Amino acid sequence: MIFIQLNSEDIINYYLSELFDLYKICFPDDNYMTNKLLKSILLLCKNNNSCILIENSDTDTVKIIGGLFILEGGKYTENGYGSEADKQSFIIFNIFVHPDEQRKGYASNMLNQLFLNIGNGNVIQLITREDNIDAQWLYVKHKFKNVKKLKQYYKHVNKDGLLFEKHL
Ligand SMILES: CC(C)(COP(=O)(O)OP(=O)(O)OC[C@H]1O[C@@H](n2cnc3c(N)ncnc32)[C@H](O)[C@@H]1OP(=O)(O)O)[C@@H](O)C(=O)NCCC(=O)NCCS
Repeated sequence: MIFIQLNSEDIINYYLSELFDLYKICFPDDNYMTNKLLKSILLLCKNNNSCILIENSDTDTVKIIGGLFILEGGKYTENGYGSEADKQSFIIFNIFVHPDEQRKGYASNMLNQLFLNIGNGNVIQLITREDNIDAQWLYVKHKFKNVKKLKQYYKHVNKDGLLFEKHL
């Protein structure tokens, strides 16, 4: 597997359509997502900690296995994800792995790389759906703590959100 950091617009453009296809497979309920919206998210998350995971292949066909999108300097506030200029805060905007490749440690690999990159003294936040139990197992395994319930955070599916935090 190859980690590719999403730190340039060229890279984002190069992988955009494959990433969009994978995103739709991993998040089938996110029917508001468009290619254009995904590109805006990626540009917002364009930094050294955001990455995609690509299968080694001899051919020219790109097979993306997963992705991790990080917002730097953002912090969750009552009104959603704020953009307070807090250099010690990181938000996991999204993490996903292709269903055929889950439970092989890929999400853990991406998270462990993130923890190494950003180092001690920082806080990482994320919000997940209350019914996304698989993701919650992943976060608990990596010592994230559930710190708050966010009523009706996911209005389009009528679900609450859970705010998780990890202090490094
Ligand atoms: C959540 C997700 C990213 C996990 O990816 P993954 O590569 O399968 O995770 P890992 O293989 O690194 O799993 C690490 C640990 O998380 C927990 N875990 C992950 N998936 C689990 C599942 N389906 N059931 C129970 N525990 C699970 C386990 O503790 C696992 O360790 P183990 O396999 O040694 O028991 C993946 O299921 C996914 O892409 N889901 C759809 C998108 C999504 O919901 N993303 C999260 C948005 S908040």
